[in-house]
Amino acid sequence: MPDTDAPINVYEFEAAAQAKLPKMIYDFYAGGAYDGITLRENREAYDRMRLAYRILQGVGQRDLSTTVLGHKVSMPILVPPVAFQGMVTKDGEVATAQAVSKVDTIMTLSTLSNTAVEDVVKAAGGKPVFFQLYIYKDRGATRDLVQRAEAAGVKALVLTVDAPLWGKREHDVHNHFTLPKGLFLKNLTSQMKELPTAAKDSGSGLESYVTSYFDSNLSWKDIEWLRDTTKVPLIVKGVARGDDAVRAVEHGVAAIIVSNHGGRQLDTSSATIDALPGVIEAVNGAVEVLVDGGIRRGTDVLKALALGAKAVQVGRPIIWGLAHGGSEGVVQVLEILRHEFDLAMALAGCKKVGDIKEDLIRKKCCNH
Ligand code: FNR
Repeated sequence: MPDTDAPINVYEFEAAAQAKLPKMIYDFYAGGAYDGITLRENREAYDRMRLAYRILQGVGQRDLSTTVLGHKVSMPILVPPVAFQGMVTKDGEVATAQAVSKVDTIMTLSTLSNTAVEDVVKAAGGKPVFFQLYIYKDRGATRDLVQRAEAAGVKALVLTVDAPLWGKREHDVHNHFTLPKGLFLKNLTSQMKELPTAAKDSGSGLESYVTSYFDSNLSWKDIEWLRDTTKVPLIVKGVARGDDAVRAVEHGVAAIIVSNHGGRQLDTSSATIDALPGVIEAVNGAVEVLVDGGIRRGTDVLKALALGAKAVQVGRPIIWGLAHGGSEGVVQVLEILRHEFDLAMALAGCKKVGDIKEDLIRKKCCNH
């Protein structure tokens, strides 16, 4: 008998995951900062955009592949850092890495991972893994972390710059969010590898951790420090404006990720797809620009590429796949997005990623 209840799109994966996950864990993944305005806006901004498709382009054969920082990927859909995947499935980030390797794209491992970076690189089986960095007040520990990731073989460092302080996620405060017993930050040592049980003042154990250990005083000088510290290309994640993007390029970054942390930091900041054109214009081709936040359909990928993104990242959907079906669930989510993107490309008259141009986006004022 066919399984007629099997999820067939990302939203159905979320519903299936919600049914399985304890409330504290589902809320941690699903939620945004404060009123969730940016969280919703990330999505709704895509829904407002209309496509102007081309006809009769002979789209019988299509090629979805592209490159990111010179690494070939089978499609322009990557997996961003998402914390604490050991809460979702036993193998955590290793399960995700196996899936990402199978579909032939790139995963970024979070500083806040429950799995050792060496194990994740191994699980990726030769496919590139990037490492996301939070800078700790303890610069020695930060340097150790960078060196450990490099020794493990990561191909780029992704510095997250949209979180000088932790966005207020009220669900985590209510739920007194902390890591379930037996889970640690596997790439850190000493007390830094443990999340406190929820502190009375903040309610969220993660917020207490961040306040204790992360450097809230980062500035452009730290980009220079990190660029001089690391041997691998440096990417900044969390850029939302053209002038910051230009400064990042001047500071020698290899790529930029337009992101607002999935609406988990500054609530009411603009949708990433609305921020993207200003960044693309300002950067003017100097470095590759990626975007994440709210991408749930193949048409969203098409729109982001039409506006100049080299590739996109999808965050929460990966977790819904992991919760529903482990590593295989992540493969299913990524394959659904691949099929949707392929169909969107064909219906828009594109045979390859390079055919996706800005004219596919219907201008509001357009009357032809
Ligand atoms: C994140 N994100 C994130 N970013 C980062 O730089 N380091 C991290 O550890 C995490 N952890 C994390 C946990 C959870 C639960 C979420 C939902 C997100 C942000 C992530 O990399 C990405 O920017 C967003 O998830 C993209 O938005 P969507 O696709 O989830 O809407």
